[in-house]
Amino acid sequence: MKCKDLISIADLSPTDIEEIFTVTKELKEWHNKGYDEKCLNGKILGMIFEKSSMRTRVSFEVAMVHLGGYAIYLTQSDINLGKREAVKDGARVLSRYVNGIAIRTFGQETIQELARFATVPVINALSDYLHPCQALTDLYTIKEKFGTYANLKLAFVGDGNNIARSLAQICAKLGLHFHIASPKGYELTPDFLSKTKQMADGNEVVHLYQDPREAVENANVVYTDTWISMGQEAEIEVRKQAFKSFQVNSDLLKSAKSDVKVMHCLPAHRGEEITDEIIDGASSIVYDQAENRLHIEKALLKLLLRK
Ligand code: CP
Ligand code: NVA
Repeated sequence: MKCKDLISIADLSPTDIEEIFTVTKELKEWHNKGYDEKCLNGKILGMIFEKSSMRTRVSFEVAMVHLGGYAIYLTQSDINLGKREAVKDGARVLSRYVNGIAIRTFGQETIQELARFATVPVINALSDYLHPCQALTDLYTIKEKFGTYANLKLAFVGDGNNIARSLAQICAKLGLHFHIASPKGYELTPDFLSKTKQMADGNEVVHLYQDPREAVENANVVYTDTWISMGQEAEIEVRKQAFKSFQVNSDLLKSAKSDVKVMHCLPAHRGEEITDEIIDGASSIVYDQAENRLHIEKALLKLLLRK
């Protein structure tokens, strides 16, 4: 992996992604045999979280412990980055204390600025715009379940949000087709679509629909996420209205392949974007997907922090 940071899937080559997956597989297999390589002995990860998190926070923290290092959890009330002091000062000072920084915040530009001024690797642990660690986990999980990406159809039902953008980008890099159904006004934007097309060497890999049934038709994987992302709480009622026919339920899945796998980055809002029956059912791979966050984070930390 050549880049210093993980800010966006757009910065990774297909070879980088395959390298991350190879290291993930090795670390997962070793861990399951009871061995964790202490390749980050004595290294420290600073974790800035300006939004809630369960999977990301815990997987990074546990990953550092498994690899012999340590993590420091820093909330907005601890450091108040960008308000108590400039992002560039935070970046320069933290770089003198820690060996890497993971950050979950609102603006993608805050992460870019932090990375520009930090001399240590910076990892995007979710912004309003992107969630690259999740997309890496998701495609790794798909490969684990299907053995290949070749000829797979991935359908996303819901908001053209951070998860959808990172999934579209990784599909473009790895050559999968990404079919997304969103209500009017919540689609991926033309500007994003044209940049994603460039990532796929000019191939049209993202396909937009307004009818979830069309997006899901013959899909191998159906993916959904919340209708209301962190920071959009003021829009709850408007969004619930707009998305009400975009639920992943047994009726919708009749259009997909009979052996379809269902994914969700979590946290899920049961009864909204997904029914209990589906998330708890035989087609759900949601909890294997959540577990893989740990193994992907370990690979990312190994590849970025050991340099
Ligand atoms: N999927 C995910 O990032 O979960 P958290 O928000 O709990 O970290
Ligand atoms: N789209 C969701 C993802 C949570 C992991 C959010 O940003 O809240």
